[in-house]
Amino acid sequence: MKVFAHRGASGHFPENTKSAILEALNMGLDGIEVDIQSATDDYMLIHDSWLDRTTNGKGKVSEFDAATLTKLDAGNGECIPRLQQLFDWNNNKTLLNLELKHTFELEKFADQLERNISAGTISCANILVSSFDHHQLQWLKKRLPWLKIGALTSSIPINYAKFAQDLNAFSVHVDKNFINKAFVDDAKKRGLEVYAYTVDKQQDIALMRDFGLDGIFTNFPMQSKAYLLSLAD
Ligand code: G3P
Ligand code: MG
Repeated sequence: MKVFAHRGASGHFPENTKSAILEALNMGLDGIEVDIQSATDDYMLIHDSWLDRTTNGKGKVSEFDAATLTKLDAGNGECIPRLQQLFDWNNNKTLLNLELKHTFELEKFADQLERNISAGTISCANILVSSFDHHQLQWLKKRLPWLKIGALTSSIPINYAKFAQDLNAFSVHVDKNFINKAFVDDAKKRGLEVYAYTVDKQQDIALMRDFGLDGIFTNFPMQSKAYLLSLAD
């Protein structure tokens, strides 16, 4: 089962910041998940649409430019990173799961992915774009047929993972509190990888493994990975 750092190694460092990302990169994990919001002129690594919870700023991320946003404190004196910084720090080393949040200008985002593919800072294999907004995913898959997309859901739909197969997704990412064996079996029959968020407790890690999941998102990747390895037979 793969281990993804959720919002970087966010159990130990401020979420979606450089320190959380570099720590996760150094751990040699299967992947790193970050959240992306649009500023007026760039894409930023921040979970909420509003600045208030994770920074010393106030207001909506989408109403400020990147230069203004990068002056804010996102915890321990760190900045809100730009998406391009993530690509440069990673330099195609680890799989990046980019979770698109709100108010997205998808055309510019697609252009940025293409520029980084050409530069070698990312590769088709090492990028997985996910979203709860399946219209965004559908648009991106049409624009970039090579792109791996992950369909997020916080619930179990009536037709199980059909929605993700219909999107031609690579994976389906489910809230751990709702996931069950029937869903996992259905998704696998449809050729999808199945990941759960956010899995930190040992009993949940063991349960996800028993369900046959392909991966978990965790805030404590080192501990989760060590526990997972201790379960291996
Ligand atoms: O991408 C998995 C997980 O991060 C989705 O929920 O709210 O933590 O972004 P959230
Ligand atoms: Mg997320």
